[in-house]
Amino acid sequence: MSENILPIFDSHAIRIFDSHAHYDSEQFDNDREQLLGETLPQKGVIGILNMGSDIPGCEATVKLCSRYEYVYGAAGIHPECAKDLPEDWLSQVERWLSEEKMVAVGEIGLDYHWLDACPKERQQEVFAAQLELANRLGLPVVVHDREAHADTLSFLEKYRPRGVVHCFSGSLETARQVLGLGLYIGLGGVVTFKNARHAVDVAREIPLDRLLLETDAPYMAPVPYRGKRNDSSLIACVIEKIAEIRGEEPQTIANAAIENTKKLFGIS
Ligand code: NI
Repeated sequence: MSENILPIFDSHAIRIFDSHAHYDSEQFDNDREQLLGETLPQKGVIGILNMGSDIPGCEATVKLCSRYEYVYGAAGIHPECAKDLPEDWLSQVERWLSEEKMVAVGEIGLDYHWLDACPKERQQEVFAAQLELANRLGLPVVVHDREAHADTLSFLEKYRPRGVVHCFSGSLETARQVLGLGLYIGLGGVVTFKNARHAVDVAREIPLDRLLLETDAPYMAPVPYRGKRNDSSLIACVIEKIAEIRGEEPQTIANAAIENTKKLFGIS
């Protein structure tokens, strides 16, 4: 892994492990090689966990893992993509997970914002099957929960996986329940948004040994890049904001998140 550390801001050098990104997205088609091969490592990005969210995405993730030393992968079916799957989808996911550097089942979960994309019952069926798979394979999960906090929690309570609830959007109360299940919480660009009261509360209260940092790139770029394409180097803005909220050094936040990410996903 590259130990090449360059400053992002003038004031300090920071190392970044992005625990949740989508570099298979077509938004990176024009400059993926430049970004992953050069720019991001130069900006201090030492690790990326890429999410497979549908069948082509899982395949692309396996390829990214073999091309870039510091890229790891997760394979899973996102709730928005759960409607029309081939009959053998679960064994396909399992096969991708047997590839090198595939360290988690994700991105999986429930999304009640886009019910047109996939009805609730089907989302729950696909989520449950993948929680079961993760437990059987002894792998952690990366969970997506949008406007489905209560149901997501009850599935997590039932299956008790290891893992992270990514891009956490719930209240402090929900955060405490998630932490109570031994899970990690992933925070990203949202903590920098003006209206992000929940995320700021969670950033302040979360024990440092349960925090993961993430982009969800190409989405969710932090202020002052909000609305633009996100990439892993911009986690520096998230780190600065969390450090400010907690009154701690950015380096402390960054290092804790790196340690947590490696521990959860078994990366040495
Ligand atoms: Ni995502």
